[in-house]
Amino acid sequence: MILKNKRITLGVTGAISAYKALELTRLLVKEGAEVCPVMTRSATEFITPLSLSTLSKNPVSTELFDLTGETKISHIDLAQACDLIIVAPATANIIGKAANGLADDLLSTILMAAKAPVLFAPSMNSQMWANGALQENVRKLKSRGCLFVGPSEGDLACGYAGTGRLAPIDEILEAAKEALTPQDLKGEKVLVTAGPTREPIDPVRYVSNASSGKMGYAIAKAARRRGAEVVLVSGPSFLPRPEGVTFVPVRSAEEMLDACVRHFPQSTLVIMAAAVADYRPTISYPSKVKKDARVLSIEMERTEDVLKKLGTLKKKGQTLIGFALETDSLEENAKKKLKDKGLDLVVANTPAGLDSDTNQVTILGRDGLVDRLTPLPKDEVADMILDKALR
Ligand code: CTP
Repeated sequence: MILKNKRITLGVTGAISAYKALELTRLLVKEGAEVCPVMTRSATEFITPLSLSTLSKNPVSTELFDLTGETKISHIDLAQACDLIIVAPATANIIGKAANGLADDLLSTILMAAKAPVLFAPSMNSQMWANGALQENVRKLKSRGCLFVGPSEGDLACGYAGTGRLAPIDEILEAAKEALTPQDLKGEKVLVTAGPTREPIDPVRYVSNASSGKMGYAIAKAARRRGAEVVLVSGPSFLPRPEGVTFVPVRSAEEMLDACVRHFPQSTLVIMAAAVADYRPTISYPSKVKKDARVLSIEMERTEDVLKKLGTLKKKGQTLIGFALETDSLEENAKKKLKDKGLDLVVANTPAGLDSDTNQVTILGRDGLVDRLTPLPKDEVADMILDKALR
């Protein structure tokens, strides 16, 4: 829960996407953040301060010289007694003012006095976004350490299509989390596998398992948030592709093996969360199998163990982490996998974690470490695994 108890000053400026700041506020509050909204005068033409203050449960500051407001939360507090400042949506005007040191209203004054990291989520017409002066202002702000998320591409309110849309709210939320996360994995190249594999029987049928990919995707997102370069090799999953990672979609165990072998030499840390099929049909029929026979037997053969193979390729001292899915003798079987596959850590879990948002795991290390965790959301489990990997 990175956002829990974090104080966030949310600047809202006058763009049509200002209504999306309401959803952003709701989600920030849901994750435990204290949101102090600040609106420019033009933002109040698009949404009302009442909506923002209802969702944030805080007064909305709009004026620089507001005596009642100043006694509660001063503009210096809004700038300095917070963990993060988000400007969403950020118009070309506020970006221009912040880049050039102009402070003629409350939000631009807060940005001048800011101590905390500042994250801009621009939103404007694509022509304005492409404008040379605007781009120079963005470069200036970036060079001073300001962060940006988006804008993204798509239909714009002005009737045009192009780059200028406010980034999706979940991306702004993720960028906010990243801004508040210590970058302790900077320089690490992390290879993560996730999801099930599908072993074809014919063009429409396959053998697979109940893995959703949630654990592996959570690890990939957590590693990226902590500053790592991440390659995510994923079997078929309905989850959205995480932003900012190199995404390698695969289907079968064989494709997963190829992708992992290709990316392994450049990696420093490998986490195999995928539920790779252990067997595949010996024959994959080129045409759909008709229901002529009363009984159908499918002969299966072993797939290669990807993790074990990577263990044999380990040349640069990569840290190798595997999972162990067990129904019986959890720790004993997990310990065996740790040894047999030459792992540094093994994360033991049960089928209860499959396709669930939470997981109860026991982490076992080569050094005898045994950490029995309580059931936790998968993003928290992901951070715990990464913490152990760093030790
Ligand atoms: N694994 C792999 N390649 C396979 C099978 C498993 O890389 N063909 C990896 C998984 O990603 C996981 C670890 O090995 O990190 C353990 O997987 P698990 O299914 O628990 O065990 P198996 O090794 O398949 O052994 P068993 O099915 O006998 O328990």
